[in-house]
Amino acid sequence: MKKMLLAIGVITLLIAFAVTGCRIGKEEKHKFTEDRIEEVGEDIWADLSKAKVGVCIYRFSDNYMTLFRREIESYLVGLGFTKENIMIVDSADSEVVQDRQVRAFIDQGVDALIINPVDPSDVSDITNLAVEADIPLIYINREPEAEEEVRWEDNKWDVSYVGCDARQSGTIQGKIIADLGIENIDLNGDGVIQYIIVEGDPGNADTLYRSEYCIKALDDAGLQSECVFKGYADWEREKAEELVSEALKGGVEAEVIFCNNDAMALGTLSAIEKAGMRAGKDIQIVGVDALTDVLIAVQEGQIAGTVFNNYIQQSHSAVDALITYLSNETNPHYIGCDYVAVTPSNVQTIIESLAR
Ligand code: BGC
Repeated sequence: MKKMLLAIGVITLLIAFAVTGCRIGKEEKHKFTEDRIEEVGEDIWADLSKAKVGVCIYRFSDNYMTLFRREIESYLVGLGFTKENIMIVDSADSEVVQDRQVRAFIDQGVDALIINPVDPSDVSDITNLAVEADIPLIYINREPEAEEEVRWEDNKWDVSYVGCDARQSGTIQGKIIADLGIENIDLNGDGVIQYIIVEGDPGNADTLYRSEYCIKALDDAGLQSECVFKGYADWEREKAEELVSEALKGGVEAEVIFCNNDAMALGTLSAIEKAGMRAGKDIQIVGVDALTDVLIAVQEGQIAGTVFNNYIQQSHSAVDALITYLSNETNPHYIGCDYVAVTPSNVQTIIESLAR
């Protein structure tokens, strides 16, 4: 299925290229400095093997972003980019490092940038650098603030964001829990769902909206709930395990644990097991992403469900958008993608669709 989708994507893109290739006259060609024209010739987009792309990932050790960056690379290579012209760097969760990397990419003469921002609330410097250098820029996964996106729109800059609406993932998490039925969740029988939220990093739209909307979905389902503990684990498995272990040792009693992502759901699962509780029976866990280990845990009944955060579609959309800009066409400034609920009833299908 995935191979078929990939094939359709590539064919669509090749058709788009054939069309735009005919339409763009020499004088209209986009964004080449004199140096770059001398280096590669004017017809760079007819031969993608010469195009250089710089990619910054906020932190390489993030499990989900590892899947994302590998997919970006393999999709670029599949389209004809050469490996040595695809530069993917680890911003090591540091804004300073990322800023330096963007400047270095520009100095090296990259033709396009894909940035997974360390601090999505403060990307204006990166945008300005790219715009001044006349280089198309696609932000991925960590959504910049609304006013920043307005700036791209107002100035008609070749800058876009590719990602999903975090509210949707939170809503799906809440529905997965509500659908279990109150009798299976409210084990202390007080008519209220006591819950823990294990959060990503502060100020991140995914953290804020997932935490807010999972509870809103419980409210909308007419279920009463009470937060008994909440803490940040920075999207990391080990930190989540530590956080939840400490909470349980401190006497926190919960019926549900909402995790802002799957890496933290796996850490939570370990903490529950080490505390001698039976995940999926004594307590319900739900995550976001659809990491393989979580899909297995959903299949085995330890994790109630997760939400597929489609890195394949998002990485392809980011690359497609970048090529569209380079072909002198326009893109929407916000390019979305839908989340998908994963529960025991469809987990096998998701596993099969992700198998290469
Ligand atoms: C993913 C997380 C990831 C985070 C990084 C989220 O969309 O669900 O797994 O750690 O992005 O910002």
